Amino acid sequence: MTTEATGASGASEQIVITANINGDERSWLSSSRDSLLEALRERLGMTGSKEGCNNGNCGACSVIMDGRLVNSCLVMAAEVEGSTITTVEGMAQGEQLHPLQRAYLDEAALQCGICTPGFLIASKALLDQNPSPTEEETRFWLAGNLCRCTGYDKIIRAVDIAANEMKEA
Ligand code: FES
Ligand code: FES
Repeated sequence: MTTEATGASGASEQIVITANINGDERSWLSSSRDSLLEALRERLGMTGSKEGCNNGNCGACSVIMDGRLVNSCLVMAAEVEGSTITTVEGMAQGEQLHPLQRAYLDEAALQCGICTPGFLIASKALLDQNPSPTEEETRFWLAGNLCRCTGYDKIIRAVDIAANEMKEA
């Protein structure tokens, strides 16, 4: 992390941050006040991660940081220096959707879609750690992600279907 400029009050420092985002080494200029969510959306143009509550309650901004599921609205951008970040934009392989993305579509596990990137990333983090979760484990894991539209059952079913598909593959 490199300091580029400091404001008179020292409150709006501009910093250069370098991190691996979805497999690419990226460097960008951020305010020292930026959250990771703000850096992703406003500095890097990666708008897949959504801002729901901006206070850690809804999970819409979920990303994986060094293997851990985090709410990017609660992580300072400066904290990600040297880290590896996976966002929803990193789930598909080119035109090939991730099995979770396909299952969410097939099961209609989304309506307005605001919560969906966060659910997808949280589901990926679950299956990365536990390829065969029980329904209870999936519901518990996804308890930090809120959805106002779907009633959750379709999401839980989609995770189960993707988990089975990924095991068979
Ligand atoms: Fe981050 Fe809601 S926007 S938890
Ligand atoms: Fe609308 Fe989840 S699909 S909030």
